[in-house]
Amino acid sequence: MKILASPKGVPQILTGRFGKYDPDGPLAAAEQAGAWQAWKKAAVAMSPAQVTRIVADAGLRGRGGAGYPAATKWRAAAAVDADRRYVVANGFEADPGAMVDRTLMENDPHAIVEGVAFAAFAAGASHAYIAVRANLAVALKRLSAAVRVAEEAGYIGSNALNAGFDIHIEVTPVEGSMVVGEETVLLHAIENKRAQPDQRPPYPTARGLWDRPTVVNNVATLAAVPWIMANGAAAFAAVGDPAFPGTQLVQFAGAFKKPGIVEVPLGMSVRKLIDIADPLPKLKAVLVGGPAGGFLSPTELDTLYTPEALIAQGSMFGSGSVLAVGPDTCLVEMATTLERFLSDEACGKTIPCRIGLRRLYEIGARATTGLSRPDDAKNLVDLGNDVRAAALCGLEYCAPNLFLTGMRFFADEFNAHLLHGTCPAGVCNPVRVARTVTA
Ligand SMILES: Cc1cc2nc3c(=O)[nH]c(=O)nc-3n(C[C@H](O)[C@H](O)[C@H](O)COP(=O)(O)O)c2cc1C
Repeated sequence: MKILASPKGVPQILTGRFGKYDPDGPLAAAEQAGAWQAWKKAAVAMSPAQVTRIVADAGLRGRGGAGYPAATKWRAAAAVDADRRYVVANGFEADPGAMVDRTLMENDPHAIVEGVAFAAFAAGASHAYIAVRANLAVALKRLSAAVRVAEEAGYIGSNALNAGFDIHIEVTPVEGSMVVGEETVLLHAIENKRAQPDQRPPYPTARGLWDRPTVVNNVATLAAVPWIMANGAAAFAAVGDPAFPGTQLVQFAGAFKKPGIVEVPLGMSVRKLIDIADPLPKLKAVLVGGPAGGFLSPTELDTLYTPEALIAQGSMFGSGSVLAVGPDTCLVEMATTLERFLSDEACGKTIPCRIGLRRLYEIGARATTGLSRPDDAKNLVDLGNDVRAAALCGLEYCAPNLFLTGMRFFADEFNAHLLHGTCPAGVCNPVRVARTVTA
C-alpha cells in the first residue's frame, strides 16, 4: 500500500528507515541506516531500570488498541519473582483489512527486533517471541533474517553484547481467526493450546506464557523504542498528544481519493486525519478501528484520534484502519456483514459472545431483508449492551460497536430498516414477504 506523506514537521519515528536499507540485505546496510546503534550503546551502559525510566518518561503507550503504558508493563513483569520471563511482540494484525503492522514488519524488521531486545532487557526476560500471522510470509522471512544476523553479530543471543545477559528471540508464525490477536489468546496459540481468552487478572505480566511473567506489546509499540533510546524521552514526548505522545501508522481505505498508509501524530482530529487521504464528496460516515470499530458521523469528526476520545464515541483505535464510507453504502448492510464476520471469527468461549453475536447478526439480517420484528430496534441496542457488559475479551466487548454507533449516529437509516422496511441508500431489498400458510 502507498506510503503517504506525513503532516509537515512530524518526525518519522516508525517510517524513517523505510526504503533506506534493503530488508533482505546485509546487517551493515541496516546499521548504516541507524539500526542497532541505540542498543549497542544503551544495553552496555544502562541498567534495565534506566531503560524503563526513559521509556516511561517518553510516555510510550501501546499501539495495539488499549493504549496501556509500555514501561508500566515492563516494570510489572520485572517485579515478579520468576525463573524466566518472556516478551511477546504481537505482529498478528488481526484485522484482515489492515496492513500497517505488516508494512512495518516488512519495511523495517530491525526496528522491531531491536525494540524486542530493549523490552526483554528492561523486563529481565531471557526469551522473546515475535508472533506473526502465518500468511504474512514476507514479514516472517525478513524478521527471521533480522534476528539471525543480529544473533550472528552478537547483539542478541547468549551473553548478548558480551554484557552478561541472554536474549533469545524467536519469530513464530501463528494461525487462527481474528480473536488470536487478543493477548491471552495469542499466548495460548504460542503454547499450542486451544486459542481462547482468559479472565483477567492475573494479567500476562504476572502469569503469561507457561505461567511465567510475560510482556505482550504490539510490534509498532516496540519499533518506537530504539528511536526513543536514540533521540531521548523528551523528543518523543514532544510529539502529538501530551497524554498519548508519539506517532501511529494509519491506513486509509474506502471512499478516499488517496488511499494509503501514513505516519501521524496521535491526537489529531479525525477531520484533519482523513483530509490527508482526501475523502470523496458526500462523505457519509467514517469507520475507525476495523470491523470491531465504530461509525463516526460527519458531525463528529472533531473527535480526537486517541483511544480515550474514540472510546467515548463508542468507537475504538483498534487496528489503525480508517475507512471512509460514501453515500451509496448502506450502513445497516455493512454493519450486518461485519457482525457476521465477527461472529464467525469469535472463539465461542462465552455464551453471550457465541450466541449473542449470532443473534445480533440475525437482527441485522432481518433488517436488510424486510423481515424485522416489532422489538428488533430495541433488542439490537439492549442485546448489544448486554454482550458488552458480559464480555470476557475485547472482541466480544467491541463486536456490538457497529450496531450501537449506527443506532447512535445514524438512527434514521437504521430505523428505516428496522421499523419501516425501507433502505434509504437503495442497497438492501427490504421487501416484506407475505408468509402464506398452505393447508
Ligand atoms: C479481538 C482482538 C484482536 C487483537 N488483535 C491485536 C493484534 O493483531 N495486534 C496487537 O498488537 N494487538 C491486538 N489486540 C490487542 C492485544 O490484546 C494487546 O492489548 C496488545 O497486543 C498489547 O500491546 P500494546 O500494549 O503494545 O498495545 C487485539 C485485541 C483484541 C480484543
